Order: sequence, then structure tokens, then C-alpha cells
Amino acid sequence: MYGTKTSRVVVIGTGNVGSSYAFSLINQNITDEMVLIDLNKEKTEGDAMDLNHGIPFGAPTKIWAGEYSDCKDADIVVITAGANQKPGETRLDLIEKNVKIFKGIVGSVMESGFNGIFIVATNPVDVLSYATWKFSGLPMERVIGSGTILDTARFRFLLSEYFDIDVRNIHGYIMGEHGDTELPVWSQTRIGSEPIDRYMSKYKKEGKQEDLDNIFINVRDAAYHIIERKGATHYAIAMGLARLTKAILRNEHSILTVSTLMKGEYGLDDLYIGVPAIVSQHGVEKSVEIDLTDVEMDKLHHSADVLKEAMKPIFE
Ligand code: 2OP
Repeated sequence: MYGTKTSRVVVIGTGNVGSSYAFSLINQNITDEMVLIDLNKEKTEGDAMDLNHGIPFGAPTKIWAGEYSDCKDADIVVITAGANQKPGETRLDLIEKNVKIFKGIVGSVMESGFNGIFIVATNPVDVLSYATWKFSGLPMERVIGSGTILDTARFRFLLSEYFDIDVRNIHGYIMGEHGDTELPVWSQTRIGSEPIDRYMSKYKKEGKQEDLDNIFINVRDAAYHIIERKGATHYAIAMGLARLTKAILRNEHSILTVSTLMKGEYGLDDLYIGVPAIVSQHGVEKSVEIDLTDVEMDKLHHSADVLKEAMKPIFE
């Protein structure tokens, strides 16, 4: 924490995503203390030793293989545990297995007396964020899903390649389910401060709408392409989770596309879904209701309907 209090992040699940996230945290000097928890205690002990040996090359961080009781004094508990997609599986296929796993994990965290912020990364992330909110009884602002933070990063990256412009000057969002029904918000996408269609007609005359459509398809299907090649995705989501952690611990008031509870925004209710939201030390301060075209709004509602349908057997 960038004040007098010692900050503590607990990582639950030290598979590919959890351990890459732990590595990102120490490389960016984001937290004072980091606790690793996994069913495989030996693995977390090994990870803690390995990460600790890198500390002389970074900045002092206390790292250990811990227990659920360590969550009591945590600012943030990040859950990356659970089954992940095999080639050909969708994120929603994981719902039953992972909701069961989450019931146990969230129960154990809450028993410790935890009173901080949950970040959920396990898929299907929108459903599991909702489950974490329900199981924990915490206020909604303190349960945040990684949502479409990664999809938005992929979108910005692919656009930056296409236009040959620094990714930090590409502004736009992927909203909706972190999954097959997500949508690009083209109407609000900007290159620098220029709306993308204006930028295209002025500076990329050879560009076609079809190119942009393909960019979105590659964003939406990126995880399938990576899983086919290497079995999992982890580096980019780990960096996204580190970004989110930093926004909380440094009270940044950053706008990030996270999964948060809808309470009437965009005409949606009682589900977690990816939308731009302000993230600070309190968690999600509020979601930012951006203007959508009618088509974009329909797509967002379709995405919400698919999520609600998937959740029905579990939460009704
Ligand atoms: C991803 O999009 C699999 O949800 C994970 O990389």
C-alpha cells in the first residue's frame, strides 16, 4: 500500500494464471506482502521460494505459502483457482465445476474474517463473480471480476498493429460476457481523439470495414487460438489482474472494463457483466454508462441473456 499500512494480496490458485500474476506483482512492486494458496501446498512452497529468490532483483516484498487464515488481513484476495478450458470447450462449459469449487473457497476466505476486496479471474468469470458476491455477502463494489479487461487489451493491441499507432493512444472497449457473446463498442472507439471511422477515412483510405470485423473476431476468439497452441492463456490476463490490483491499492480511479453487478445500468439487472467502471481503493466506485448505438445495446442485452440463461440452474 502506498501509505503507512502494509498491503497484502492473497492469490488463491497458483496454476498458470496465479503464478504469472504473482510474478507480475513482484516485478511491478505492487504489494508489500503476497500470500500463495493452492490445494497443492508443495507447489505454492516451491513458487514462494522461487519468487523470493527474485526479490534481490526487484523490491522488498514478503512472500509465503499460506493458509486461508492469512486472508483475514488481506486487502485483496484474487481467485484464479478452478478448472480451465480444454481445447474446444467454451468458458460457460466450466460453470458447474467451478461454482462448486468457489463455494468452498469463498466460504473458507470469509471464515477467516476477511473484509477486503475480491478479484475473480476464473471462468466463466461473470458467473463466478456473481457467485462470489452471493457466497461472500460482501457489498457488490468489493467483488470485482476481471470481466473484459483482457478482451479490451486484445482489441486495443490488434488495432494498434493495424493502424501502426502506440496502443496507449487506442481507446475503446469490449463489453459484455467475457466469452463468445462479447461485443466491440465501435461507436466509442478512438484513435487518439479521432473517432475510428473518421480516422479511417482520413488516414487509412485502403482500410475496409471487413478488416475491423476480422480484428474483432480475432479478439473474441483469441483464447481459443492460444489454447490450441499452448494449452492455456496466462501472461496477458496476469498483467490485467496486476493492473486492476494497482488501481485498487493506489486508489487510482481508473476506468477499466471489469465485471460488476448491474443495477439498472443499460437496462440490466441482477447479473455481473463486463462494462467500463471506475476502480479505486473502495473497489468498483461505479460503472460508467457510455452511449451505445441501438445495435450495440441489442448485442449487450443478448450477451446478458446468455449469461442469465447459463446461471439459471444454479441461482434459482
Ligand atoms: C482468456 O480469454 C481463457 O478467459 C481466458 O484468455
